[in-house]
Amino acid sequence: MCVTVAMIPFLSVVADAGDLVVYPPDRTAVRRSVLDIVVSVGDRTIRGIEVRNESTGSTTYRSAAEIDPDEYESPHVSAVLSFGENKLVVDVEYVDGVKERVEIGVFRLALWGDLAVAPSGYSELTFHDDGRFSGCERCHQLRSATADTLPQPPSRSTCYPCHRRLAENEHVHGPTATFQCLTCHVQDDAGYEIAAAGDSLCFLCHVEEAPNFRRQYVHGPINTGDCLLCHDVHSSGHAFMLLDSINAVCDVCHLGEQYDNHPVVGHPVASRPDPSRVNRDLSCTSCHDPHSSDVSPYLFYRSTGVHSLCRECHRK
Ligand code: HEC
Ligand code: HEC
Ligand code: HEC
Ligand code: HEC
Ligand code: HEC
Ligand code: HEC
Ligand code: HEC
Ligand code: HEC
Repeated sequence: MCVTVAMIPFLSVVADAGDLVVYPPDRTAVRRSVLDIVVSVGDRTIRGIEVRNESTGSTTYRSAAEIDPDEYESPHVSAVLSFGENKLVVDVEYVDGVKERVEIGVFRLALWGDLAVAPSGYSELTFHDDGRFSGCERCHQLRSATADTLPQPPSRSTCYPCHRRLAENEHVHGPTATFQCLTCHVQDDAGYEIAAAGDSLCFLCHVEEAPNFRRQYVHGPINTGDCLLCHDVHSSGHAFMLLDSINAVCDVCHLGEQYDNHPVVGHPVASRPDPSRVNRDLSCTSCHDPHSSDVSPYLFYRSTGVHSLCRECHRK
């Protein structure tokens, strides 16, 4: 039941946010850029729902007509988050003109830096743990099924209705596209465990490529098994599921400016076709292998030294 406090006619601020917004709880820390807000309206008829992110100024609105009839009692609206604190104002408008408002704080965690840790008061939510969200089970299946090991077709996976957006991206990882989620996520009573730690998870499948990571000179983050400092494990908008474009990924750890004249004065490192690779532009990986190499400093694996590297593209 909603306990409401009258503010101005027809607009009430709901005293306990959890009565209206059932997911996410106020002051939740998440690792995603788009978050689904699930609202509970019971059998009341709504006109629409608006979510305004006061921290970015962006607004999402769903009118009653846009809401799936099957989710009517618990309409979902998504919000786009920026890194750090996001103040979300959720306005529900009913057909009788009454409006209800709830404000919730959500913190989007970054991979590194100051925003990688949630400030006090916020806690990172584990969704699939102790049955806290069993209300979702009226419409969704929260326990994985045996057929989820290799769902045919992928949309038959019990994960699909809630997590399909992981596969709606330009570059999708093989096992995300096929919804073989359970290869990497093992469900037990406490929730989900990752099947293997660090890069051993990757080498469950990438056995054939393993030697490419074990050449004589091994790049720092490969040595520590931190594949996800550069790659997204599910999908991304960048080739090879990188977190950003290639040079921007390198730039995170190697200060950009010093490569303006690299490796010789005036040499381009981007924005030109790469003569050695069909349909690719020049980038740091035109000359460096991001994983490992037999030639220091991680020169492209086909070269035997700096001069043979130059000849990959300058044939005279
Ligand atoms: C009244 C029924 C109902 C309830 C209760 C419900 N959902 Fe849903 N949900 C739906 C329907 C219908 C869809 C659309 C699924 C589809 O198109 O396959 C959906 C989709 C979703 C999506 C995907 C949204 C997208 O755009 O990709 C997420 C995430 C989700 N639900 C989470 C939840 C959570 C978390 C709860 C519990 C707090 C919950 N749902 C409770 C009916 C419901
Ligand atoms: C009712 C919708 C729903 C269904 C069905 C669902 N999930 Fe989730 N899951 C969520 C939500 C909501 C989160 C919280 C993070 C987020 O917003 O994406 C989450 C988080 C997770 C996490 C991160 C750890 C955690 O517990 O927060 C994993 C791993 C995960 N889901 C795997 C799965 C797998 C695998 C399946 C299918 C076997 C599945 N989920 C089915 C809604 C759902
Ligand atoms: C190749 C292994 C792998 C596969 C396949 C995989 N995951 Fe994950 N997933 C991970 C790892 C590793 C993490 C932890 C990521 C991190 O800490 O950055 C993760 C994190 C998550 C999270 C929480 C963070 C986030 O990105 O939202 C959710 C939700 C999730 N997985 C759901 C799924 C679902 C659903 C599927 C199937 C479509 C799936 N995963 C397939 C390895 C995998
Ligand atoms: C369940 C098996 C499986 C696991 C585990 C797995 N991968 Fe993959 N990966 C695949 C498949 C299948 C492909 C697609 C191969 C192809 O298209 O030739 C792929 C392709 C890739 C690609 C290339 C994508 C592209 O656009 O060319 C990258 C990068 C990648 N995986 C990284 C990883 C990382 C990092 C991990 C560990 C966190 C990992 N994979 C774990 C099965 C897996
Ligand atoms: C320093 C950033 C970085 C790290 C860390 C990293 N990768 Fe990559 N990876 C890249 C880049 C950049 C490419 C694209 C290479 C190119 O341009 O051809 C790539 C390509 C790939 C590919 C597809 C092409 C190929 O070489 O087979 C796979 C598979 C892959 N990475 C797996 C992994 C795995 C597994 C790990 C962890 C052991 C890992 N990567 C760690 C940056 C990284
Ligand atoms: C997560 C941080 C990180 C990222 C991202 C990263 N590197 Fe590195 N890189 C390191 C560390 C740490 C070292 C020094 C230790 C070593 O030599 O392995 C290093 C060393 C190097 C070296 C050798 C320097 C020398 O003096 O021998 C090269 C070349 C290099 N990286 C290229 C790249 C390229 C190309 C990319 C993008 C694909 C990249 N790095 C992305 C952390 C990173
Ligand atoms: C056209 C080929 C080429 C491109 C493109 C290129 N490099 Fe290099 N890089 C080299 C060569 C050759 C060396 C070794 C220079 C030497 O030994 O004097 C080197 C050396 C390095 C080193 C170690 C020495 C130093 O300067 O600290 C790092 C780190 C490095 N490159 C990173 C990068 C990054 C990051 C990019 C992308 C912005 C990049 N490189 C693009 C060819 C290239
Ligand atoms: C992956 C391909 C590639 C590699 C490897 C490479 N270059 Fe280049 N280089 C280019 C491209 C592309 C240009 C720009 C050509 C243009 O503007 O027409 C260029 C331009 C140059 C220029 C400027 C020429 C001019 O027209 O002003 C010099 C000098 C040069 N490279 C030297 C080197 C040296 C020395 C090496 C080895 C350390 C090297 N390059 C390795 C692709 C490469």
